[in-house]
Amino acid sequence: MADMRVNIAGVEFKNPVITASGTFGYGREYEHFFPLSKLGGISTKGTTAEKRNGNLAPRIAETPSGILNSVGLQNPGIDKFIKVELPNLKSKGTVIIANIAGFSVDEYVKICEKLDATNVDMIEINISCPNVKHGGAAFGTSCQSAAEVTKAVRAATKKPIIIKLSPNVTDITEIAKAVEAEGADAVSLINTLLGMRIDINSRRPILKNNVGGLSGAAVFPVALRMVWQTANAVKIPVIGMGGISTWEDGIEMMLAGASAIQVGAALFKNPFAAVEIIDGMNAYLDRKGIKSVNEIVKKVQPW
Ligand SMILES: Cc1cc2nc3c(=O)[nH]c(=O)nc-3n(C[C@H](O)[C@H](O)[C@H](O)COP(=O)(O)O)c2cc1C
Repeated sequence: MADMRVNIAGVEFKNPVITASGTFGYGREYEHFFPLSKLGGISTKGTTAEKRNGNLAPRIAETPSGILNSVGLQNPGIDKFIKVELPNLKSKGTVIIANIAGFSVDEYVKICEKLDATNVDMIEINISCPNVKHGGAAFGTSCQSAAEVTKAVRAATKKPIIIKLSPNVTDITEIAKAVEAEGADAVSLINTLLGMRIDINSRRPILKNNVGGLSGAAVFPVALRMVWQTANAVKIPVIGMGGISTWEDGIEMMLAGASAIQVGAALFKNPFAAVEIIDGMNAYLDRKGIKSVNEIVKKVQPW
């Protein structure tokens, strides 16, 4: 069998497949399907300083080959995460990445300081959240605010930091370069693409929040393009996600430049998706006589 191990910012993963934040909760629902130790890693549901109930329902809408969500960061808050969920997750034998979100720079800092004192392996900073103190535009949509958050969390923790980028920008490589310059250890992308659906009878948006984030197979080519561009723009590792549903998608994403991948919405259709992707990628490497999965990273040959 090919060597599936990857190393991101000094953290060793037994394989490059991580479950994406918000699609795997804290692992409890999925451990009835397979041992979580099969996964390369788990990125937890986005956790904020205080408990949140999230947005009002309906907060999920189906789309062709995708899912539109406006869950609104429902989570138990960082203290309960550290006390209850993290010890359980850390006993599962896989890399645990705490995905966090904040509505101000101070909130990101406060959460990182608390996580710094735990045994969590890495922190993934979701910067697709509105900056409440500065007009509500998402932190991840300007180089300045993305850099500001990165600088602040870098000072708040020694844990490896992954900055999770928003695709709702003109040029994602500019944001990636800005967070790399402030000390990000890795970037992950893409978060969901802003979208909308309308009920033609009530003439109301289907989501109570009016708009939501699109993910699932429909977004894969967009995500692949952004990962490829970003991997060519920065030196730090890129973790690729967005619409990965099959092992072939996983291979494509790594050829584009991802050092590891995350699987999200596909898990809602098939809870075994991540495990099947690990096995399928491994079998592909064997068939091709490739000894280590690292050998395919960024090996696309552009025309
Ligand atoms: C229901 C749902 C909830 C999500 N919650 C979070 C979250 O809390 N934090 C975050 O960084 N990303 C969140 N995401 C985004 C995913 O982690 C991922 O970036 C995105 O869905 C693209 O990957 P996919 O197409 O494989 O799902 C969520 C996605 C979905 C579908």
